[in-house]
Amino acid sequence: MNKITQLFNIQYPIIQAGMIWASGWRLASAVSNAGGLGLIGAGSMYPEVLREHIQKCKAATDKPFGVNVPMLYPSIQEIMDIIVEEGVKIVFTSAGNPKTWTAFLKEKGITVVHVVSSVKFAMKAQEAGVDAVVAEGFEAGGHNGREETTTFTLIPMVKEKLQIPLIAAGGIATGRGMLAAMVLGADGVQVGSRFVATPEASSHEKFKQAVVQAQDGDTHLTLKELAPVRLIKNKFYNDVVALYATSPTPDDLKNLLGRARAKKGMFEGDLDEGELEIGQIAGLINDIKPAAQVVKDMMAEFEAAKTEVTSL
Ligand SMILES: Cc1cc2nc3c(=O)[nH]c(=O)nc-3n(C[C@H](O)[C@H](O)[C@H](O)COP(=O)(O)O)c2cc1C
Repeated sequence: MNKITQLFNIQYPIIQAGMIWASGWRLASAVSNAGGLGLIGAGSMYPEVLREHIQKCKAATDKPFGVNVPMLYPSIQEIMDIIVEEGVKIVFTSAGNPKTWTAFLKEKGITVVHVVSSVKFAMKAQEAGVDAVVAEGFEAGGHNGREETTTFTLIPMVKEKLQIPLIAAGGIATGRGMLAAMVLGADGVQVGSRFVATPEASSHEKFKQAVVQAQDGDTHLTLKELAPVRLIKNKFYNDVVALYATSPTPDDLKNLLGRARAKKGMFEGDLDEGELEIGQIAGLINDIKPAAQVVKDMMAEFEAAKTEVTSL
């Protein structure tokens, strides 16, 4: 038992990240059934779609699971109401001010975790009354902080100041990475990219293959003027780079991005025109395997790495 397994009443301190177009009820319930904490990613769901995913997840597991709510998307009130109505017990908020929803959720008896990318925002989340903080380094897949603080530096810096449990995210896909994060001060890990390459992830097969094929150096954090996001360097990414060469305004970037790029890439499998969000650690992901196997392998590697370091 540690702070994270206790907080969520789970077996292993492995949290499957909420991820737009990848983390529906199938992935969340598979991870929860395997002893980790599965999260349904509400960011790509209309409110009633989210309700359906929550209901299916409840039917597929009797273990704890949660919902990730990126606060930059519309219909947040409706989403929060559904979460309460459906009796969800754990919410991970991200991309917004933790003050806005924490008190509302806590009043309903919900455990609240907020995702941050800096020490300053970790402290703000703690002040807002959250139960734990996810500190995410800039190697992570998806939307990210502008400052390019790595997980290796962020975790010990947050650890120095934070009193509540700390979850590390960004670049963790193996038990070895998990142990490293915990040695740096984390109580648990949130894993995104690794869980994209599973049969249970709802993302397109072609996207999963692109993740498996990606090597180190194949992703980049871009579009910082809008919302910084780490992408695979595909045709769309090259179009962004070409536009940057013309000193674009944020509106020019917005026009190129258009609507539904992420859906096009990750859900519909358009590897040229779509936005392909994945972390740097994709370079270490070489196969598609069941989510339960990911959890099992990570725990076995974690134990082996622990033994290995005692001989250093
Ligand atoms: C495809 C994809 C979609 C993501 N979508 C979200 C999201 O909707 N909400 C969120 O808080 N984070 C999102 N993230 C970030 C993850 O929650 C997580 O913190 C991150 O993936 C951890 O780093 P890793 O990819 O190196 O494991 C996403 C990441 C990926 C790879």
